[in-house]
Amino acid sequence: MNNEIKIHPLVQNIKDEIIDNRRYFHKHPELSFKEFNTLEVIEKKLINMGITNITKMAKTGLIADIKGSKNGKTIGLRADMDALPIQETSDLSFKSINDGVMHACGHDGHMAMLLGAAKIINEKKEKLNGNVRLIFQPAEEGPAGATYMIKDGALKGVDQIYGIHLWNYQKVGEIGVKPGPIMAAADMFEIEIHGKGGHGATPHGTVDAIVVASNLINSLQTIVSRNTNPIESTVVTVGMINGGYNFNVIADRVKLKGTSRSYTKKNRNIIKKRMNEIILGLEKMYGAKIILNYKDGYPPTINDPECANNVLSASNKIVGKGAGNPYLSMGGEDFSYYLEKIPGCFFFVGSCPLDQEPLSTPHHCSHFNIDETALLIGSSSFITLIEDLLIKYINPFITK
Ligand code: NI
Repeated sequence: MNNEIKIHPLVQNIKDEIIDNRRYFHKHPELSFKEFNTLEVIEKKLINMGITNITKMAKTGLIADIKGSKNGKTIGLRADMDALPIQETSDLSFKSINDGVMHACGHDGHMAMLLGAAKIINEKKEKLNGNVRLIFQPAEEGPAGATYMIKDGALKGVDQIYGIHLWNYQKVGEIGVKPGPIMAAADMFEIEIHGKGGHGATPHGTVDAIVVASNLINSLQTIVSRNTNPIESTVVTVGMINGGYNFNVIADRVKLKGTSRSYTKKNRNIIKKRMNEIILGLEKMYGAKIILNYKDGYPPTINDPECANNVLSASNKIVGKGAGNPYLSMGGEDFSYYLEKIPGCFFFVGSCPLDQEPLSTPHHCSHFNIDETALLIGSSSFITLIEDLLIKYINPFITK
């Protein structure tokens, strides 16, 4: 256990409320853009706290503003709201009552942490030199809810944005943060090879789509091994191959599907460019027609250096030496869209229970669970960030 953990005293006071909120959301999970009950509950809770400056947007999301007594920056704090199509297999007393739907990524906790922070920040709003925008975003798990929020004006007037992901790849008591890329671009591609079929015994005159596919798969592997910088992580995976009819028939069609991951725009572009070049080359080489359908997923999540430093300094106050480099994955996150618009920082609050190994209860698994102390650490991080950004450093002579 990290003995240096210092939960913010105001968070300590509402500890039970934060944990109860998380358990409520956990018990009542809803899928992307179906967070109707979740939205209603959040809205009610905000109103009960006295936060009434609420705008609903992005189908099932909302923003709410806490205005300080003096002018200053507006800081956005974001929580995502959706659950996953997974049947929960845990034996928690508050396990999901919605069949086939589960908060298996920790978004239940994200909402609870932000609600907890909102309550405390709102009570202290007289002290703020600036404003806080609470951003409750639907549909992170695939449909890019962040883009809907941006389109509906969630970032209007916001100077910086911060977001937390509970992180079971790190132990509770750790906070992972770094400047620059922290999550990957997660793209999808489909490739269709059109050759010319024929008898397996008379290959001359045919264009064997299976031979083309074999070469294509091998060539795609050279993008990561030969074209991208080995110290910058990238992935190209062909996850599906489909084609052919019988042992003595030369296939005229093969379909492939795969995903590519990268941490930078530069590498994302290299992957796309090389994929196209390899395909053009193979078309010439074999006389086949190859159609690539490359779908951009979430872009890489790239933290602003100054904002990352703000998080690191706030984290130091809460978890001491537990603050440091994150456990990185090649997963994607739609917080990236906010960071393409304004500076901000996405960071990881370690939530792996101390008696478990970090990889034993990964996100998106059917018995996913967290150490709830992480919720208090997360709320404390949001509050400390706001104290640092909107109370202490602005007009230090006037305030105190
Ligand atoms: Ni998630």
